[in-house]
Amino acid sequence: MGSKKPRKSQKDSISAHAFRIRFLRRSREIYNRYLETKPWIKQMHTSFLGLKPGMRIVDVGCGTGDFTRYLASLIPAKTTIIGVDTRAASLRAAERETKNAKLDGSISYRKGDAYNIPIENGWANLACCRTVLMHLTDPLKVVREMARVTKRGGTVAAVERGTINSVYIPDDEKFTKIAMKLADAYVEGVKKLEHKYFNIGERLPTIFSKAGLTGIMAEIQTDAYLASDPRRRLEDVRDELDFALAFFRETKKVDSRAMLAGGASRKSVNRYNRWFENYVGALLRDDVKLRNDTTFGAGGLYLVAGRKQ
Ligand SMILES: C[S@@+](CC[C@H](N)C(=O)[O-])C[C@H]1O[C@@H](n2cnc3c(N)ncnc32)[C@H](O)[C@@H]1O
Repeated sequence: MGSKKPRKSQKDSISAHAFRIRFLRRSREIYNRYLETKPWIKQMHTSFLGLKPGMRIVDVGCGTGDFTRYLASLIPAKTTIIGVDTRAASLRAAERETKNAKLDGSISYRKGDAYNIPIENGWANLACCRTVLMHLTDPLKVVREMARVTKRGGTVAAVERGTINSVYIPDDEKFTKIAMKLADAYVEGVKKLEHKYFNIGERLPTIFSKAGLTGIMAEIQTDAYLASDPRRRLEDVRDELDFALAFFRETKKVDSRAMLAGGASRKSVNRYNRWFENYVGALLRDDVKLRNDTTFGAGGLYLVAGRKQ
């Protein structure tokens, strides 16, 4: 507990849980349906990333290809997108789902490392990634590599989480503060244990500048979560909570370890863990309760882009 050395095994790293297909695919499906309630987000992505027909795009750390297919869906005409990931199982799922979505004419996948992208110099008009740099110990090196595969005048972009996130637990100001502190402790703990900045968003413009990119710009997409929101189907909200509970149970041990390493007390970690399991469990047993719940959560996804000179 609280070891100062980086953890050696990649398999039991905190990031490894986020890469597992079961969680990745299911959480992305739910998130995509959530995005359908916010049509302005697609417009923001199209404009911010300068998406145009005929572009050549690389999606680094594409996982099951969710963001890759999302990008293709935003460009109405033919485009060429290559998704790259180290995980063969994720790429197999990505290929299968891309075929099902009839996007295999535009999208192909390659097994490869973000630190050594298997694409020639200057191939892409846009090299991008979503929630990948937060899981890597040398994000600057990866951004430089993304710049290498981008042509002059092209764009390098990243979509990652940052410090904007908040929670409100109804009528419990003290526990709300504890929950917010635990979220900070978690990020600090991951930094200590695994040398990764989970809240990398604010740092991205500086990293992009160090990588030699210019004209750096940023935007933040903020997402609010309320189980009572009638724009969302009941089964989606239920699925989301069900998924959150399954993920919580699976990662409770490593997450608690990170919070403790980040300075949280054992007492508040235990209290939070107990509360979360009881709270979500109670909502999942009672639809009326769920649809009237006003526990509030919000998170920000930071979009940063720069031009290759
Ligand atoms: C949280 S997932 C995000 C997947 C996808 N970008 C999305 O938004 O749905 C992070 C992905 O990065 C991949 N990854 C981690 N380290 C990598 C590396 N060194 N090279 C390439 N991919 C990597 C993981 O296998 C995983 O698929």
